Amino acid sequence: MPDYNDTMKNPEQPFITDVQKLRERARTSIDKGAVTPAYAGNVEQAIDILQAVLATEIVCVLRYTMNAVTATGISSEGVKEEFDEHAKEERDHMRRVAERINQLGGTPNFNPEGLASRAASQYVETADLVEMIKENLIAERIACEHYRELIRYFGEKDPTTRVMLESILTNEEEHANDMHDLLVAHQGKPMLPEN
Ligand SMILES: [Fe+2]
Ligand SMILES: [Fe+2]
Repeated sequence: MPDYNDTMKNPEQPFITDVQKLRERARTSIDKGAVTPAYAGNVEQAIDILQAVLATEIVCVLRYTMNAVTATGISSEGVKEEFDEHAKEERDHMRRVAERINQLGGTPNFNPEGLASRAASQYVETADLVEMIKENLIAERIACEHYRELIRYFGEKDPTTRVMLESILTNEEEHANDMHDLLVAHQGKPMLPEN
């Protein structure tokens, strides 16, 4: 994996606040899971993890929607369309995760209060088109990394949740690719090295 911290050292990218903290937050729920090996005995653990995934997806819906509305400048039309399409797909992820929480007997947490602190992705406001694309690329890469870990965590304990996350991961990888391609198109070079 690329070292996200390198991007934070670049003074040209002050909008990237603390990616390390976000990644640590994304892992917290998995660490808790280590003390609960018997999934069948503790559905609460799965619900806790999925609440963080839900918050992450909600933040993604908000970020892409805001970006689709506010993107301006030369050749922003194609980018707006891409943001809109991603916003719709993030909403689909959000809905599927909420349904799964409900199936497991939990109440999906849509409370706007504390949303940002429950999420593993960040809501960053910027007016610059290229910066928007960069922020989304970073958010997508964090999401991919987070979901890969969760897929390993759920493993055979909860194949239904695992399969759902695998399907979402496939889509997030496409999103990351889309953002990478847009960045190359608008900046001429990729911000992060290839995996
Ligand atoms: Fe998503
Ligand atoms: Fe995504």
